[in-house]
Amino acid sequence: MKLFIDSGNIKDIETLAALGIIDGVTTNPSLLAKEPGDYRDNLKRICQIVKGPVSGEVTATDFAGMLQQGHDVAKIDAHMVVKVPLTREGIKACKALSGEGIRVNVTLCFSAAQALLAAKAGASYISPFVGRLDDIATNGMGLIREIVDIYDNYDFKTEVLVASCRHPIHVVESARMGADVATCPPAVIDQMFNHPLTNIGLEKFLKDWEKSQAVKA
Ligand code: G3P
Repeated sequence: MKLFIDSGNIKDIETLAALGIIDGVTTNPSLLAKEPGDYRDNLKRICQIVKGPVSGEVTATDFAGMLQQGHDVAKIDAHMVVKVPLTREGIKACKALSGEGIRVNVTLCFSAAQALLAAKAGASYISPFVGRLDDIATNGMGLIREIVDIYDNYDFKTEVLVASCRHPIHVVESARMGADVATCPPAVIDQMFNHPLTNIGLEKFLKDWEKSQAVKA
């Protein structure tokens, strides 16, 4: 399964990319709005750091505006993926941009019916938001199960990109269900490393080693 960073922060992306386990990046207008500088320059820099798919979202809500912004986003770098919302206009834009060979990530997906529409429009990625469903007492991971089943039944090429991941269990469950990608905020990727027994075990190994060296000295 691929692991993407859900962030627009260059420093965080540089730090995590250096670990060698990051496959791509997703951004959204809220994430990019937090960062200083021009968003195009920031996206270009992110593409240079990660050298994998980087999603940049349109802010237009009409078909013509989405196409225009989609073309602008795609021109930033060959790694760019155009993100469009799951609306009627967004699905139309997805079909048109995908037809031109531009990769599209359809975002703000909250139902299997919506995911089916995105696959039919030729989306490269569908982004179901699991955390935001959990927030309203609906089973976010249940939606991933449904989408993976539907896409498998018809061999749709659209990749299931699990978004709005709030903790490592979302990532582990995504992997168990066969989702293609999980995109996580930097804090969640950090949490994936942590286990108290790893720390306790390492401390003991190092102490035992030091003791043995002291005896030999
Ligand atoms: O980029 C979309 C998604 O991952 C947003 O997550 O935490 O704002 O629901 P969140």
